[in-house]
Amino acid sequence: MKVLVTDPIDEAGLARLRSAGHEVVTDVDIDTEGVIEIVEDVDALLIRGTEITRAVFEAAPNLQIVSRAGIGVDNIDIPAATDHGVIVANAPRGNVRAAAEQTIGLAYTAARQIPQAHLAVGAGEWAGTEGVELGGRTAGIVGLGRLGQEVARRYDNLGMDVVAYDPYLGAARAEQMGIELLDLDELLAEADLLSVQARKTDETIGMIGAEELDAFQGDIVVLTSRGGLIDEQALADAVESGSIAAAGVDVFSVEPPADDNPLFGVDEIVVTPHLGAKTHNAQVNVAVTAADQIITALEGGEVTNA
Ligand code: MLT
Repeated sequence: MKVLVTDPIDEAGLARLRSAGHEVVTDVDIDTEGVIEIVEDVDALLIRGTEITRAVFEAAPNLQIVSRAGIGVDNIDIPAATDHGVIVANAPRGNVRAAAEQTIGLAYTAARQIPQAHLAVGAGEWAGTEGVELGGRTAGIVGLGRLGQEVARRYDNLGMDVVAYDPYLGAARAEQMGIELLDLDELLAEADLLSVQARKTDETIGMIGAEELDAFQGDIVVLTSRGGLIDEQALADAVESGSIAAAGVDVFSVEPPADDNPLFGVDEIVVTPHLGAKTHNAQVNVAVTAADQIITALEGGEVTNA
C-alpha cells in the first residue's frame, strides 16, 4: 500500500515500512495544500509537523491511518478523522526523555544565562550575569502528563521541591509521585520556576497570560510542550520589565515563528527551534513506533497508541 511521508522521519521507520512491502513516497517540502493535491491514492500518512485538516481527509478516500512520529496530535483534525473513519496514531513514549532533558537544559540555561555568557566571552568580554541556583527552590509544573512527570523526576533529582497543576491528574497518582497538586493560582504564588509541559488544547491555549505572569511570584519560566500556552507578548513584556528574570522557550505559537516574534531579541529569553525531541535516539524511536502503527493498521490489526 502507499504511505506518504510529509516530514523528515528517520530512515529506520521508512525501512520498516518498505520491508513490510509498502510503497513509501517522501515529500517533505509540501504543506497542507500540497498534501491535498497528491493524497488521493494514499493509504497512510506518516507525519510530524504537517497540518492535517478536514480537507486532507476529504481528498483521501483510501486513507486508513495518520501516524504522527511524536506525542502531540494537535496538528491533526481529530473530529474530521473520526468522521472519515481514519485512525490517528502517535508515538507517545519514544521522545519523552529527550524533551525532558531539553527542559532541564533550558531551565539551567535561563537560570545561569549561559548562551549570553558564551556570546559575551566570544566578543572579548570576560563577563556574565549572576545567576540563580535551581537546587533548594520550587519548580511549579503545569501539565503532569508523561513529559511533565519525566521533568518532575529530574527537578526532584536536582534538589528542587516540585508542585504541579494538572486538573486531569488524580490526587492519588500525584501523591504516589510525591508531588503536591495545587490550583494554578496557588502554584503561581509558590513556584520559583514555572515549567509549562501541558498539551495544547482549546483549554490550554493562552492559559498563561499577562494576569498569570503578573501573579507569578518566581523568576524563571520554561516552556517546552507547545507554543501558545503562554502568551508570547506577555512573557516578553514581563521579562523586559524585569518582573520575571529569564525564560527558556523551545516551542512557539506559530512554527517557524515570524522574525518579529516578541520573544526574539529579549536578552534574557533563550529560544531554541522546537528541539525537544531532536536527538538521534528519540527520532529513531518515534519513527519506528509510528511506522509500526501504520503496518498494524494496514494489516487490519489493533492500533493501541501505547
Ligand atoms: C511531540 O509532540 O512529540 C514533540 O513536540 C516533538 C515533535 O513535535 O516532534
